[in-house]
Amino acid sequence: MTVDQTYIDIIKNGGVVAFPTETVYGLGADAWNAQAIQKIFEVKGRPSDNPLIVHISDIVQLDEFVDEIPDIARTLTQHFWPGPLTMIFPKKQQVLDIITAGLGTVAIRMPDHPTAIDFISRTGPLAAPSANTSGRPSPTKTTHVRHDFGADFPVIDGDFSRIGLESTVLDITGDTPVILRPGKIGASEIEQAIGQKVILDKAESQSAPKSPGQKYSHYKPKAKVVYGEISDLDKHTLYLTQNNSSGSTNVVCYNGDLKKLSRELFDQFRQADIQGYDRVHIEEIEDFKPSNPALYTALKNRIRKAVV
Ligand code: TXA
Ligand code: MG
Repeated sequence: MTVDQTYIDIIKNGGVVAFPTETVYGLGADAWNAQAIQKIFEVKGRPSDNPLIVHISDIVQLDEFVDEIPDIARTLTQHFWPGPLTMIFPKKQQVLDIITAGLGTVAIRMPDHPTAIDFISRTGPLAAPSANTSGRPSPTKTTHVRHDFGADFPVIDGDFSRIGLESTVLDITGDTPVILRPGKIGASEIEQAIGQKVILDKAESQSAPKSPGQKYSHYKPKAKVVYGEISDLDKHTLYLTQNNSSGSTNVVCYNGDLKKLSRELFDQFRQADIQGYDRVHIEEIEDFKPSNPALYTALKNRIRKAVV
C-alpha cells in the first residue's frame, strides 16, 4: 500500500504521524528536527528522560547516526532486518539529544512492514516511540491510536499488528550483548546468529535500568490485571485462558498459542476497559514455554508490568 502524500508532507513540515509496523504502531517525527520530536513527547505525555528509537528504511541510513558499525551489528542486521530487533549503538555526535535523552547511545531499527518502509523511504529516518498515551498498552490497531490521540489524529491506516509486542531491544555497546527489552527475537536466535552468549537484563530489579523505558509502569489497562490459575469464573472479569473454553463471552481461550496471545494481548487490555470489566485474568502460560521461549519471555515481561 502506498502512503498518501499528505502524511509525507506532515512530517516534512515538522509534524507527527502515527504509522503501522509489524510490532505495534509508532508515532513518528523527522529524526533531524528537534521541534518535531518535542511534539511526540507532548502528544504522548512521555517523560523526557525516556529515549526514542530511530526507524530507518534502508541500511545506508545507519551511517547518519552511527560512526562505526560493529561486526556483530552487521551480522545481526543481515539476519534480522527488516524486523523486530532494535539495536543500541554508540551514537554519532550530531544525533539529537532529544532522541537519546542525553545518552551516548542511540536505538535503531528497520521495521518489517511495507507501509512503514514506504513511509520512511519518503520522509527519511523517523524518531518513533509506540503511538499510545504514556502508560497505556501499545497500540496494535488504528482504532487504538485514535482512542488515545483523538479521532482526527493523523494515523496511516494499517492492519492489526502482526506481532503485537514491541521489538527486542539489544544493547551491543558492551563486551556481551544484553537484551534490555525481550521481544519476538529471543536470546537463543541472536546467539545462533553471532556465535556469542547474550544476557537478559534484569532491568526491573536494578535501581538504574539501562533501558530507561523499563523503569516506567507500562502496558496497563484500567482493569486490574491478574496472572495465575483460574478457579471460579466471575462475570466482571475478562479471562484469557489456555484450557478453559467455557463458551462464556468473558472467556477467550488461547490453547497455548503464544503467537496469538502476543498479537491480541494489548487489544484485550483495551477491550476490557471499553467493555467495563474490573479485571483481566490471564491463565498461566508456563506449560507452553518450550513452544516459543522468546515469545514466552516477552509475554511474561509485559504481563509482569501490567500486574504490578
Ligand atoms: O517495536 C517497537 O520497538 C515499537 C515500534 C513503534 O517500532 N517502538 C517502541 O518504542 O516500542 P518505545 O519508545 O515505546 O520503546 C523504546 C524502548 C524504551 O524502553 C526506551 O527506553 C528504549 O527503547 N531505548 C531507546 N533508546 C535507548 C538507548 N539509547 N539506550 C537504552 N534504551 C533505549
Ligand atoms: Mg512504548
